[in-house]
Amino acid sequence: MIVLGIETSCDETAAAVVDDERHILGEALLSQTEEHRPYGGVVPEIAARSHLDHIDTLVAQAMDQAGASYDDLDGVAVTGGPGLIGGVIVGVMCAKAIALAAGKPFVAVNHLEGHALSARLVEEVDFPYLLLLVSGGHCQLLVVEEVGRYHRLGGTMDDAAGEAFDKTAKVLGLGYPGGPAVEKAAREGNPERFDLPRPLVGRKGCDFSFSGLKTAVRRMADGFGENGAASPQDVADLCAGFQTAVGDVLVDRCRNAVKPFRDRNNGGKSLVLAGGVAANGYLRARLETLAGEEGLRLFCPPPGLCTDNGAMIAWAGVERLKRGMTDDLDFAPRPRWPLDQ
Ligand code: KG4
Ligand code: ZN
Repeated sequence: MIVLGIETSCDETAAAVVDDERHILGEALLSQTEEHRPYGGVVPEIAARSHLDHIDTLVAQAMDQAGASYDDLDGVAVTGGPGLIGGVIVGVMCAKAIALAAGKPFVAVNHLEGHALSARLVEEVDFPYLLLLVSGGHCQLLVVEEVGRYHRLGGTMDDAAGEAFDKTAKVLGLGYPGGPAVEKAAREGNPERFDLPRPLVGRKGCDFSFSGLKTAVRRMADGFGENGAASPQDVADLCAGFQTAVGDVLVDRCRNAVKPFRDRNNGGKSLVLAGGVAANGYLRARLETLAGEEGLRLFCPPPGLCTDNGAMIAWAGVERLKRGMTDDLDFAPRPRWPLDQ
């Protein structure tokens, strides 16, 4: 089985061709980072227009690389939401056109499901598993019971983890996107210099909150003074302090999720990490330790499959098609689409 997957829900235009034996046969990705950089974040209108300009070329590149024609496909999968609606519409229309013209099944994939199943594209990870999904727009703990069957144990009460990384980078003048820049700066920093809050740590439940941490970082950054008065060491120390605080929060919340996860499915053995923030090496190491302590095995896709990409959408398409789950061509793109319905 081979499936074309298309992703346009945020600021990455991506297409990939994947088979049901976990091979990525072709992939093409264009990041809009440079187009959004002057604004310090993603501008939805610019994103939608850029997706429209590039999607055809990227699909052609992925198909060429795979050496496949539309006739060879078993289906066309696309992110149907949630996301910036202009971009989602571009991807969905493109996928519908290919599916209609080639007479192939159409699959609308929830972007979060793409992240949730991404580890299974890399290796055999049995259901059920505990999933920490940490991206720019989402921060959730879920039990993944089957394709299309998700049970949410907790979510963020305010910002997503990736948003906190992006805002930290912004106040420290590290630019956009923030996650990789903060991780890099943190490597040279002393995490103990600044006393930062760990929202909700030690409390019951599996919810997250990052706004208090974000505010504390901003206050400390303001304390350095205006116009780049912070030294590289100040920046590195604050990044290290912030990243460590995020690690403490994620580990604490995940630890609380283990019991409800086991109570629900006493056979579950795996913790899966997914979403853009899962590309962070420090956080991966912290969760690896937690998994070991809790008798779980940690699975985390390589960084390129953690951040938005076409292969995870194609793979979710494979998983759905194998189960006979397809969508009609009147599917309406969704700006909001919770995974646990
Ligand atoms: O999954 P993703 O590509 O897009 C969404 O679905 O949101 O996640 C993007 C987020 C951004 O907030 C970005 O700063 C963060 O993932 N991110 C990272 C790292 N790489 C990307 N956060 C921390 N460390 C990283 N290395
Ligand atoms: Zn994403």
